[in-house]
Amino acid sequence: MTRHAIVTGASRGIGRAIALGLAERGYDLALNDIAAQDGDLGETAAMIEALGRRCVRVLADVSQLEDCRRAVREAVEGLGHIDVLVNNAGILRLAMIEEMTPETWDQTFAVNTRGVFQMTQAVIGHMKERRYGRIVNIASLAARTGGPGQAHYSASKSAVVGFTRVSSMEFAGHGITVNAVCPGIILTEMGKNNLRDPERVAYFEKITDVHRLGQPEDVVGPVAFFASDDSAFVTGQALNVDGGIFYS
Ligand SMILES: NC(=O)c1ccc[n+]([C@@H]2O[C@H](COP(=O)([O-])OP(=O)(O)OC[C@H]3O[C@@H](n4cnc5c(N)ncnc54)[C@H](O)[C@@H]3O)[C@@H](O)[C@H]2O)c1
Repeated sequence: MTRHAIVTGASRGIGRAIALGLAERGYDLALNDIAAQDGDLGETAAMIEALGRRCVRVLADVSQLEDCRRAVREAVEGLGHIDVLVNNAGILRLAMIEEMTPETWDQTFAVNTRGVFQMTQAVIGHMKERRYGRIVNIASLAARTGGPGQAHYSASKSAVVGFTRVSSMEFAGHGITVNAVCPGIILTEMGKNNLRDPERVAYFEKITDVHRLGQPEDVVGPVAFFASDDSAFVTGQALNVDGGIFYS
């Protein structure tokens, strides 16, 4: 039976790479992003269809509970069923603690953390009924060690690792695994935002064991493993995918 995956934040960057990587591995896709990204999401969809896979687009803001419920409903209606949820949507708005507004803190958590919870809650009944599911949460190296200006982001991603651990406990008896991936520095719109200064680029290249920054495609293999049947005995884990920056 063809496996089906829903990927949030799939219009560009890591989300697009994951969607394409899963399509190359034979999955059909439900692609999510916010309405403002519909143009880029259409490009991801065309790339997936060019690979001969089916895909549906489900526009939704993951910070909105009703959007998440509708997105999952539309994904199930469009594809028939969902096996895999990849919670990839995320935002990083740099702000030092002394200047950070409560709104910036709340918005970061609303997307990065509550979005993961809401999408998980929206899909879990469907997965339990089918007694099968794979949930992969894209956390971050920032969950292990953030940088200045990332206190809210780091806290929101640490929370995703905690949520992953408890989700794995709650759903393990239903054939559902939940794991997280913690990417290092990946050259996407978000990654570049964080790396305007060439000295910082050189610094990160130096402290990375493989001496290069990551590409979105570097994240795909680990996500595909957690999304597959091969990882049936792996749950509640958070895997660093950072070229060797952080060890634990
Ligand atoms: N780039 C990095 O260095 C890096 C490192 C570690 C973790 N991450 C994480 O990887 C994930 C993807 O990041 P990226 O680097 O590809 O960033 P990106 O900004 O290029 O892509 C993020 C995507 O999420 C979408 N999105 C944002 N808010 C949304 C919402 N409310 N609902 C639905 N979609 C929404 C955006 O429109 C965009 O398509 C994020 O969770 C990010 O925190 C990135």
